[in-house]
Amino acid sequence: MWQGNDIQYAVEILCAGGLVGFPTETVYGLGADAENAAAVQQIFTVKGRPLGHPLIVHLGEAAQLAAWAKDVPPLAWRLAERFWPGPLTLILQRQSRIPDLVTGGLETVGLRVPSHPTARALLRAFGGGIAAPSANRFGRVSPTTAEDVREELGEGVQYILTGEPCAVGLESTIVDLSSAEPAILRPGGITREALEEVLEQPVPVRIGGSVRSPGQLASHYAPRARVLLTPLTSLAAQATALHAEGLRVAVLTSPACPAICPEATAFALPDAPEEVARVLYAILREIDRQGFDAVLVSLPPEKGLGLAIADRLRRAAGPRHEHE
Ligand code: TXA
Ligand code: MG
Repeated sequence: MWQGNDIQYAVEILCAGGLVGFPTETVYGLGADAENAAAVQQIFTVKGRPLGHPLIVHLGEAAQLAAWAKDVPPLAWRLAERFWPGPLTLILQRQSRIPDLVTGGLETVGLRVPSHPTARALLRAFGGGIAAPSANRFGRVSPTTAEDVREELGEGVQYILTGEPCAVGLESTIVDLSSAEPAILRPGGITREALEEVLEQPVPVRIGGSVRSPGQLASHYAPRARVLLTPLTSLAAQATALHAEGLRVAVLTSPACPAICPEATAFALPDAPEEVARVLYAILREIDRQGFDAVLVSLPPEKGLGLAIADRLRRAAGPRHEHE
């Protein structure tokens, strides 16, 4: 049985150095015992992820923070108290118990306490830290169901836990607290506005810094279909032009403007950004399943969750040569 809700079986696999897929409130993770370097190595192999890209360590309780990070600043505790368990990853100075493979040789580590009940149950039963990237092949769209994980990784993952749907649908917000000024390295489920309210200071977005962060590559989170960012006013003309070139075109539309043009297939996005975040990856996967060549979409306003949605769409539309 490759999927199910047997937490004890999942723990046995982790203890034996195997890999387990598990749902979180953001996306599915591909987990290994964070202190077992050989198991962590398997994650890179199965994902096709280049070594040197650091992984997030998932913990069951915020109180475990000090065992995995050192010199934890007061701001980190403040964020942990407010947003954990939840879709927030903190970058902190690492403790030496963490294998180099996990941190990509960096002196920092990403830590997160997820809120999904299955993830929490797994972490509590396991007791230790679980290193887990999103459970997709490198560069591709993150999975939000057990079936997506199976489709992405095949037999490479021994067991996939099932559970409630991924309520957020986009990856966690990554906040760097390893230097003097906090910064967002990846927008995600916790909004910049919410972070600034708690920290009582501006938290700039710093994408494309020196740290190796695949989520920061120009092309990432990408479906097979070409993603083209197109202003609302040119969606119809662009769809018609691509169709004339012989391409099968999908258009992500809002309910406010459903009919684009007869040549394109419309996929309606919900109105609320929270809903868009929840369904976006599933829709991109469906577009691939149906074999479209191109998908047209316009960026949402970049506030609240719109910041993370726009970030993922830009990367989905980024140049592909890094992965092909
Ligand atoms: O929501 C999530 O964060 C999901 C679920 C499974 O928890 N995980 C996830 O992991 O998105 P992954 O590996 O797909 O993306 C983690 C990002 C990568 O871009 C990685 O480079 C960055 O976190 N990261 C990890 N440790 C880091 C560090 N020490 N410094 C900077 N970036 C780091
Ligand atoms: Mg990922």
